[in-house]
Amino acid sequence: MEAGILNATMMIEGPSYFYTMKIAIINGPNLNFLGTREPEIYGSKTFEQFLDELKKKYPSVEFSYFQSNIEGELVDELQKKGSSFDGIILNAAGYTHTSVAIGDAIAMIKTPVIEVHISNVYAREEFRKISHISAKCKGTIVGLGLKGYELALQYFISK
Ligand code: DQA
Repeated sequence: MEAGILNATMMIEGPSYFYTMKIAIINGPNLNFLGTREPEIYGSKTFEQFLDELKKKYPSVEFSYFQSNIEGELVDELQKKGSSFDGIILNAAGYTHTSVAIGDAIAMIKTPVIEVHISNVYAREEFRKISHISAKCKGTIVGLGLKGYELALQYFISK
């Protein structure tokens, strides 16, 4: 237990301890348009709506959320969160298929990363079947919609 916060409270029965897990969600380019972007592929919910629901459902988890359309900013964020968080859930979006730098960042950091894709990238164009990040990740969840983020979270909670 290194990354999160160990809280102690004094109860009538004596001290009790609970652990606040720190989870970072990092989204890549164009995911700031979820809700209106190709809803037949990505659904009609915004990520902010989804994140609010997730926070309500998992009140004991401390979430950090970051989205960027810029590759280097995603690398910066992985470096920032890569030693002080319990888990990172990453949808690198289009950069999945092109970014050696994001793959290198994942390989370098200590915090485990789960790769998530909303759509089933294996059932789409050929170029989406290539990932520069999958092999560096703890695991990958594809094609299950926004539920994939929650399943990744549940994996980290179960550890
Ligand atoms: C995506 C799949 C990518 O191929 C695409 O470029 C995206 C979103 C997904 O979540 O399904 O932007 O990562």
